[in-house]
Amino acid sequence: SKKEAWSGRFSEPMAEFVLRYTASVNFDKRMAEADIAGSVAHAKMLAKCGIISKEDLNDIERGMRQILQEIKENRFEWKLELEDVHLNIEARLTELVGDAGKRLHTGRSRNDQVALDIRLYLRNEIDQIMDLLSHLQKSLLTVAEKNIDTIMPGYTHMQVAQPVTLGHHCLAYAEMFERDRERLADCRKRVNRSPLGAAALAGTTYPIDREYTAELLGFEGVTQNSLDSVSDRDFAIEFCSCASLIMIHISRMSEELIYWMNTNFAYIMLPDRFTTGSSIMPQKKNPDVPEAARGKSGRVVGHLMGLLMLMKGQPLAYNKDNQEDKEPLFDTIDTVKDTLRAFIEMIPGIQVNKARMREAVMLGYPTATDFADYLVRKGLPFRDAHEAVGCAVRLASEKGCGLHDLTLEELREFSDKVGEDVYDSLTLEGSIASRNHTGGTAPSQVAKQVGIWKERLKNR
Ligand code: ARG
Repeated sequence: SKKEAWSGRFSEPMAEFVLRYTASVNFDKRMAEADIAGSVAHAKMLAKCGIISKEDLNDIERGMRQILQEIKENRFEWKLELEDVHLNIEARLTELVGDAGKRLHTGRSRNDQVALDIRLYLRNEIDQIMDLLSHLQKSLLTVAEKNIDTIMPGYTHMQVAQPVTLGHHCLAYAEMFERDRERLADCRKRVNRSPLGAAALAGTTYPIDREYTAELLGFEGVTQNSLDSVSDRDFAIEFCSCASLIMIHISRMSEELIYWMNTNFAYIMLPDRFTTGSSIMPQKKNPDVPEAARGKSGRVVGHLMGLLMLMKGQPLAYNKDNQEDKEPLFDTIDTVKDTLRAFIEMIPGIQVNKARMREAVMLGYPTATDFADYLVRKGLPFRDAHEAVGCAVRLASEKGCGLHDLTLEELREFSDKVGEDVYDSLTLEGSIASRNHTGGTAPSQVAKQVGIWKERLKNR
C-alpha cells in the first residue's frame, strides 16, 4: 500500500477525497524549476556546513539534473498522491539516488520551501513583466512619434474640451506604464529576500548558513523572522496590486480604442488580425482584443481581492490556507503577460484617420478657452472673458458654425477688445502650439518628450 511522506503516526491512509481536495501538484508543478534550484542551493549549504557529506551533495545534484531534464522533456510522472511539487520531486530524487535524497530535507520544511519557491518564481516573472512594459512603451512611442502634431479632441466628461495631439495622448499611457514599472521594481525588493531556514516556523536546530543559500540564489538578503517568513504572502498581494494597476491602465486604453473604432467616431482602425467578425452580421469588425483585455482587468483585480481575503484571518504562522495563493497568483501572471504581448503587437498597427479626428474636434468649440485667454491678454478679467466667449459659442451653435466662422463684427459684439488677430487664437494649430511648457500638448513639447522617451527606452 502507498505511504505518504508523513505517514509515520497515522493509522489509516488518507481518504481519496481529502487527497484530491488538498493536493496542489496540478498547479504548483509550474514552480518545479524554482523548487529544484532552491533544493540544490540548500544541499550545497548543508554540505558546506558539514550537515550532509560531499558525496550526498553530488548525488543530489546529479539526481536533480536528471529530474530537471525529465520535467523539461515532459517525461516526469507527476503523482497526485504525492500532493505537491515539493514531495513529487523529493520522491523522485530518492528513487534516483537513494539515501542522499532522503537527507535533502534536513533543516528544512515545506513551509519555508514553498515560500522560497514562490519568491524565486515570482522574481523571474516580475523581470519578464517589466521587460514587456518597456516593449509596450516602445510601441506607444512608435505611434506618438508619427503623430506629434496629429490633432484630436481632448475630452473631459467625454465632451470635447480642448484640442490635443495624438502623440501627447499616447505618451500619457507611456507615463502610466512607467509608474507601473517603478512599482514592480519596488515590489521586487521585498520579493527578493530568502525565507529559507525558517523551516516549519521556528527555525532549525542544525548549524545552517542562511546567508549562503540566499547568496547562491541571488537574493538581496534573508528574512529576519521565521514566523513571518513562512506565513505572510504580502509580497504576492503587492505584486497582484501592481498587476491590477497595469490591467486598469490597459483597460482604460482599451475603452478608448473600442470607441475610437466605433463607426460614429472612426478615429482609428485596428489591424485586422486583432479583430473578429460576426457569425451573423457580415459587415462587422469587432475590437475583441481590447474588449477581452477590459474584461480580464476585472479578473486580475478579483485575484487581488481574493488574496487579501485569503490572508485576513490567518493567525501565525503557516496555514494550509496559503496554498490557495497560487492559482490567483499564476493566473494574474499569465493574464498580464498575454495582455501585454497582445498590446505590444497591436498598438503599432493602428491606422489613424486624421481627418476624422480633426472633424470631430471642430464640432466641439475646442478653442473657446483660447478665445477667453486672448481676451484676458487684451485686458479683460478672466470671468468676463469666460462670459463673453460663452455668448459667442451660443451664437455659433445657433448658426451651426464654428467660432472661427463668425465675422469680426459678430465677434466684436461680445467684446470690443476683439481685433483682427483673434483668428490666430481660434485655430487648432494656434491652440495646441500655445500650450508650450513641460507637460503641455504643443508639438514642440511632444517632440521633446518623444526624444526623452527614446533615450530612456534605448537600453531596455
Ligand atoms: N503545497 C503547500 C503550499 O502551497 C506547501 C506547504 C505545505 N506545508 C504543509 N505543512 N502542509 O503551501
